Amino acid sequence: MRILVCGGAGYIGTHMVRKLIGAGHAPVVFDNMSTGHTWAVDEAFKGAEEKGLTPILVKGDVLSTSDLESLFATHPVDAVMHFSARSLVSESIAKPELYYHDILVGSLNLLAAANRAKVDRFIFSSTAAVYGTPDQMPIEESCPTRPITPYGHATRMVEMILEDYAQAQGLKSVALRYFNAAGADPEGGLGEVHDPETHLIPNVLKAILGKTPPLEIFGNDYPTDDGTCIRDYVHVSDVAQAHLLALNYLSEQKGPGFSVFNIGSGKGFSVLEVMAAAERVTGQWVPYKFANRRPGDPPVLVASAEKSKKILDWKPEIACLDEIIRTAWGWFKDMKN
Ligand code: UFG
Repeated sequence: MRILVCGGAGYIGTHMVRKLIGAGHAPVVFDNMSTGHTWAVDEAFKGAEEKGLTPILVKGDVLSTSDLESLFATHPVDAVMHFSARSLVSESIAKPELYYHDILVGSLNLLAAANRAKVDRFIFSSTAAVYGTPDQMPIEESCPTRPITPYGHATRMVEMILEDYAQAQGLKSVALRYFNAAGADPEGGLGEVHDPETHLIPNVLKAILGKTPPLEIFGNDYPTDDGTCIRDYVHVSDVAQAHLLALNYLSEQKGPGFSVFNIGSGKGFSVLEVMAAAERVTGQWVPYKFANRRPGDPPVLVASAEKSKKILDWKPEIACLDEIIRTAWGWFKDMKN
């Protein structure tokens, strides 16, 4: 199949592109390159030729209807994977209009262009942030969605749009609610490069390497055993694999419909536990200090991945936190800056 990967030059997107090529699909990467990297796309495209595939990179923006028109006119595709969005919880609180605008307008534009091109399979990168501060742990997909941030609200709205479009446009879609994507492809060449970096595991490893000041731990007075926030870390290659399985699921689905799946490991680790794991993996201490809570951080987010297991036949292959961190360490310790 030929698959449009919007946001395919970013962290999760490039891992997806490599996974698609490995499975014999041809990706069309569409990215405005605001946070993506051309070198990472080149890296992800490696090996395509031997498989007789012609991957393509198109520079353009989901916020531009004309970019999307020409994209679909020039490159027919069988399905769309939508990774092009902003995804930082605390930034969304500071800049709500940016988040509502980019997430909603980008998704609406993309859905309209896909509909005109008669593409009826759509996979959306959703987030655990749609649950807000849940009452139940682990979180099941049937738990109420009560986002507490503009990022969570806007992303949940896109899910609602997808549900409505199933009725109105015959769309088959899946929203994958990622928990904390982390790590790097064990095969090398791909990994996390954000500027500024805000995610925990990269910041822990960069602090060890002395590339940043000591790690700031945002809050040690949460209602958890050690007072720091608990998250469910899931390897980025497993996140990509979930999309392949979701694509099969949609391809076998008879009629229109919308489904949501949690993509998480089912295990939670506190910030201090992540630091301890990084120390085990690297054999080095993490320099750190405690700081104030970060706005928008719920104390605990841990997935129930039972539905994904049962329906998509998905389970994380790199399931152990130390292994996830080992792949990230392989990436960060060789990074130039
Ligand atoms: N943290 C620190 N110091 C840091 C960075 C993070 O203490 O330097 C803490 C945060 O406060 C949080 C935890 O580590 O408690 C994880 O933070 P991340 O920034 O790595 O990830 P988030 O949980 O904030 O968000 C990520 C994605 C979101 C997604 C969410 C789902 O960025 O898009 O996971 O759980 F919605």
